[in-house]
Amino acid sequence: MKISGSLTLLLLLGSVSAQETSESNPPTPSDLYAALKEMTASLVQLKADMATERAQLKAEVNKMKTEMDKMKEQPPVQPVAFSASLAVEGELHIGPVPSDTPLIYRHVPTNIGNAYNTTTGVFTAPVRGAYHFEFHINSANSRSTAAFLVKNSENVFAAHESQPAHFMSSSNGVTLLLEVGDKVFVRLAATSHVFDNFNHHTTFSGHLLFPM
Ligand SMILES: *[C@@H]1O[C@H](CO)[C@@H](O)[C@H](O)[C@H]1NC(C)=O
Repeated sequence: MKISGSLTLLLLLGSVSAQETSESNPPTPSDLYAALKEMTASLVQLKADMATERAQLKAEVNKMKTEMDKMKEQPPVQPVAFSASLAVEGELHIGPVPSDTPLIYRHVPTNIGNAYNTTTGVFTAPVRGAYHFEFHINSANSRSTAAFLVKNSENVFAAHESQPAHFMSSSNGVTLLLEVGDKVFVRLAATSHVFDNFNHHTTFSGHLLFPM
């Protein structure tokens, strides 16, 4: 195919050139052959360049496809965020408790993803990831207050306040890497009091920063 095509071209060029340059020096067959050879070489090069470009493009497209597949495999980021306070209404005093006692925050203005259980006061991680928590505790009338933020059964961080009089408040926050099913809650320390009312002073909040 290639050779016959080249021959046709050669014949064509020969006839045109022969007509146009019949009086002056017509190009010799070897001139035409050289020109044709050059053109053929250029075409071959062009074809090679196109093949290279096509291969590069194909590689790029494949790379993008692989990345898109990977993105599809990843679970969509699950929104998880909650905020809760101890007292739903009125006034609430707890303590002094004889031993460390989990606090159940029953007023829940935010519970996106329902990972905070309003019955138990326990947050359960729905996905592996980094989570941020904070807790604020209050006490009144010179009764000292102390609480721990607990991961499963381990006291992670504490908040403590003790004054001779008036209203007291203490807080702490923490970022934790949690596995699916890890539990986080707040435990009132033995001998402590805690106070809350309709203004919602004593609170527990948390949210997923990012899955891991
Ligand atoms: C909260 O915990 C209680 C007691 O373990 C359980 O019966 C209930 O199903 C839980 N609620 C949710 C929304 O998971």
